[in-house]
Amino acid sequence: MVSNPRYAADLAKVAPLYDRVKTVIPEFEWPIHAPYVAAINELKKERNAVILAHNYQTPEIFHCVADITGDSLALARRAVETSADVIVLAGVHFMAETAKLLNPDKIVLIPDVRAGCSLAESITAEDVRELRRKHPGVPVVTYVNTSAEVKAESDICCTSGNAVEVVESLGTRQVIFIPDEYLASYVAEQTDVEIIPWQGHCEVHERFTAQELNEFRSGHEGLTIIAHPECPPEVLRAADFVGSTAQMQSYVETRRPPKVLMVTECSMSDNIAANVSDVEFIRPCNLCPHMKRITLENIQRSLETLEPRVEIDPIVAVNARAAVERMLAVGR
Ligand code: 13P
Ligand code: SF4
Repeated sequence: MVSNPRYAADLAKVAPLYDRVKTVIPEFEWPIHAPYVAAINELKKERNAVILAHNYQTPEIFHCVADITGDSLALARRAVETSADVIVLAGVHFMAETAKLLNPDKIVLIPDVRAGCSLAESITAEDVRELRRKHPGVPVVTYVNTSAEVKAESDICCTSGNAVEVVESLGTRQVIFIPDEYLASYVAEQTDVEIIPWQGHCEVHERFTAQELNEFRSGHEGLTIIAHPECPPEVLRAADFVGSTAQMQSYVETRRPPKVLMVTECSMSDNIAANVSDVEFIRPCNLCPHMKRITLENIQRSLETLEPRVEIDPIVAVNARAAVERMLAVGR
């Protein structure tokens, strides 16, 4: 709970924010969140800070304190535009590193440094150098879910929202595509470019099975299934639509399927459900333990202490930044 009484007067100010989340956060829980929401919104003004929140953040973060929300691509794009002095990344470590690469002179905070990613853990810079030795002259396309050191060994980055476009932008016959094996196979199905994959997986999406999806489909008439491309190929084949988290959100908000199952991290459904009342969400719940390390409490602490900061070795940063900037230039 918030200890500082100076925020007590702000509690009334944040009461209207409950309206945004009332369909996904029970009323009895709001008094737990409200003091943090009040404190964070005040601290943001004092620090000239913005909060960038990924679509997998919990609704009280996503709807009540975030200034910018979106998928990895949107967060990277919007990070470049901010004039704030401080960026708080409510997401995982690689996202905070991307924001820092694009804003080397700003303070970038990640409220819990342990917020990692199984994909980022699956590959090292030395692994990329070894791949290059094995496939001389073949460019390396790196999913943003990687460390700055791995990005620095790459030609260009991509996200799930632009992977095919990025691969085709290189104009080569082959590319090394790291580290997500399932995203690589999804991209390979949509392009003539030969994809050389790595065997990294997302620990959240690899757990879904086609059998599970088919059981949901037979139990819910008229169900639309939309999936993230980090899922195994058999799961993607069982889905009606595949896209990045932002593309999934846009699908639901524009097409308004009566009943939808989002094959991705749990909080996505909650965050969209708070915006649309005419869609029924069927929720198989797979939580990302890394995303869930970020809480209102540690966001508040980060803004108070301006720690923990993301720092990147300047030599690594030069090449990693170039790979991210090349991605941002694609489709501009
Ligand atoms: P998006 O870029 O689609 O938001 O995906 C990021 C991520 O970590 C998915 O697991
Ligand atoms: Fe990484 Fe998967 Fe979590 Fe996304 S959901 S941050 S890919 S572990």
